[in-house]
Amino acid sequence: MPKDRIVVSLGGSVLVPGEDDSEYIRNLARLLIRLSDMYALFVVTGGGRPARYYIEVGRDLGMDERALDAMGIILTRLNARLLIQALGPKASPEPPEDYEEAREVGEEYDIVVMGGQRVSITTDGVAAELAEAVEATRLINATSVDGVYTADPNIEPTASRFDKLSYEDLIRIAGRPTGLAGPSIVIDPHAAQVIKRARISVYVVQGRDLKSVEGAIIGGDFVGTVIGEDGSR
Ligand code: UTP
Repeated sequence: MPKDRIVVSLGGSVLVPGEDDSEYIRNLARLLIRLSDMYALFVVTGGGRPARYYIEVGRDLGMDERALDAMGIILTRLNARLLIQALGPKASPEPPEDYEEAREVGEEYDIVVMGGQRVSITTDGVAAELAEAVEATRLINATSVDGVYTADPNIEPTASRFDKLSYEDLIRIAGRPTGLAGPSIVIDPHAAQVIKRARISVYVVQGRDLKSVEGAIIGGDFVGTVIGEDGSR
């Protein structure tokens, strides 16, 4: 029987925040290698602070949004290469550049790691489109916060976490597209639309909490938010 396919969107803020990054990447790789015996894993890496830095400097220099996005994509692919290195022979050696390639490479390798895909989306959008393309069982959004909150918990201390959300709730919370490179929200509007269209089950977890990442991948216990059909876990 073919393995269930799971897509993990790994924020750059989780992968390379500048806090013991190589140790974290090594531990994450160990977990993914173990779980790849049971699941076909597709990981999408975000750009994080390095991407934001390049986008900020490029914008100051007068680069247009497409050129800024193109730099962001390069940074996401560099991050993919860091994880690929830690995964060793279990992972495809090069980040695929489109979904068809990802699907094909997934036939050959237990773990596929890719970065960005085209201008004017984010890696959450890529992860949602990839989940749709490979008909994933679920999409794990491993981010810097432990779920979707009523407001940004770093700014609003009284914000509370949703345990469950419906697709309609997600669309409402994600808001409208900004059209600017480097946005920073838990799930952006384009990704939210794809998730709703393809009825993808999404588990939002704190990516550095590897117990929760594991729980979400296997569909077990974890701290975070589930987005689904009727908002049920
Ligand atoms: P990310 O998707 O990583 O953005 O890509 P982010 O919102 O900063 O995510 P975290 O912090 O990693 O979770 C960085 C930038 O690269 C461009 C966009 O400008 C994005 O904001 N990008 C990325 C694209 O244009 N297309 C892609 O497919 C991916």
